[in-house]
Amino acid sequence: MEVSLCSKELDKLFPKGRKAYIHSFGCQQNVSDGEHISGIVQALGFSFTDEEDDAELIIYNTCAVRETAETKVLGHIGALKALKQRKKNMLIIICGCMTQRKEMQERIKKSYPFVDIVFGTNNLKLIPRLISRRLSEGKRIFHSDIGTQIEEGLPIVREDSFKAYLPIMQGCDNFCSYCIVPYVKGREMSRRPQDIIDEAEALVKNGCREITLLGTNVNSYGKKEGYDFPKLLKAIDELDGDFFLSFMTSHPKDCTKELIDVVAQSRHICHHLHLPVQSGSNEILKRMNRSYTVEKYLSLIDYARSKMADVSFSSDIIVGFPNESDKDFADTLSLIEKVRYNALFTFIYSKRSGTPAAIMEDEITHREKAVRMNRLLKIQQRISHELNSEKVGRQEKVLFDSYDSENRLAVGRTGANILTLSQTDTDVTGKMCLVTIKEAMSAQIKGVIDIIY
Ligand code: 5AD
Ligand code: SF4
Repeated sequence: MEVSLCSKELDKLFPKGRKAYIHSFGCQQNVSDGEHISGIVQALGFSFTDEEDDAELIIYNTCAVRETAETKVLGHIGALKALKQRKKNMLIIICGCMTQRKEMQERIKKSYPFVDIVFGTNNLKLIPRLISRRLSEGKRIFHSDIGTQIEEGLPIVREDSFKAYLPIMQGCDNFCSYCIVPYVKGREMSRRPQDIIDEAEALVKNGCREITLLGTNVNSYGKKEGYDFPKLLKAIDELDGDFFLSFMTSHPKDCTKELIDVVAQSRHICHHLHLPVQSGSNEILKRMNRSYTVEKYLSLIDYARSKMADVSFSSDIIVGFPNESDKDFADTLSLIEKVRYNALFTFIYSKRSGTPAAIMEDEITHREKAVRMNRLLKIQQRISHELNSEKVGRQEKVLFDSYDSENRLAVGRTGANILTLSQTDTDVTGKMCLVTIKEAMSAQIKGVIDIIY
């Protein structure tokens, strides 16, 4: 009803047709939400454009996890001023984690008067209603309530047909002391297992070759509702077909041996665990409110290795948490040497107002933090190179996602998410292939395709 009403109003405003430009900043969860935004916008009669200049509707789906993410979004919003002056009827919507923060809504209200609609998280279904209100009432709209229910049944336009993000839960109850996510995404909520399994089954039937189950903390899946993550994984793994199954993000405090056993015994689940450790210092972990110790973390890594000889790991690390000492940082480097991750996602600590860490004393300069980050990255580069070099001569299963016919170059990723290049005359986009690795660098491997499935 709301969709058809809104479409009629949009028909009047844009009688010659309408295009939308949608951009999601930040994490995979946002990319997934962006696919639902596209679905809703398509139902409202928009087609899509990659050029902001060409659009009648611009939507930025924003991120708040670090200050740099917000600065980037604000820069993009500022650049729309001139465009809106030229195209008076154009609609600009800003949504997502950044605009769930009251102070950011206020800032947009004051400094960016050309923005039409602002809303936060878990409220995508409101888009048609908010557009209708903007058009009929003429006032700018600032919706600040966080959605408190999982949004089921939203339309979707996926970015790829052969790989898919599949959200299973949202929100976070952990309140790590540095993190803004629990404040902007709200409490943990899980989708029903059967809804997820049905969606996974339909994806595989339609030729999808990679499913990534998404959640802020997938290991908490169903804790409140009485469901169980290992059981869900197992059920999806039992689907027939040739596909990679992976999941992110896992919190080490909730990652169980049972879960690792399911991965080890599976048919489709990649032998890869993204297990964000954040720091290798017990003192810092305590102040981060992470609820595990380095020893407990390493025992999980050892257990996974004992069950899967070929398992690989990746992690998130925060460098320069308030008053991180030289010794704390040395402990992080030592942990990295022990685990030997095949990839790391590294961040310099960013102060987020409203979080407990924001009022912690911090005497470490930004310059010192940057020096530490460079040291860490150098060590990680060496380790990634060493691990990739061990793959030379071995076969890896790779899902290719693009092909450059001019250079005869196919680009894809292994189940452990390692960038893989292959010279071939065949366009293997969307195909699962067996590749013999011939050359290794720190950030990618190169190989020859033996079998195309
Ligand atoms: N500063 C730096 N990095 C952060 N992360 C979350 N909050 C912050 C912050 N305030 C990182 C963590 C998390 C990843 C998604 O972002 O490493 O795992
Ligand atoms: Fe943030 Fe911690 Fe929740 Fe992850 S588990 S989203 S780091 S509060």
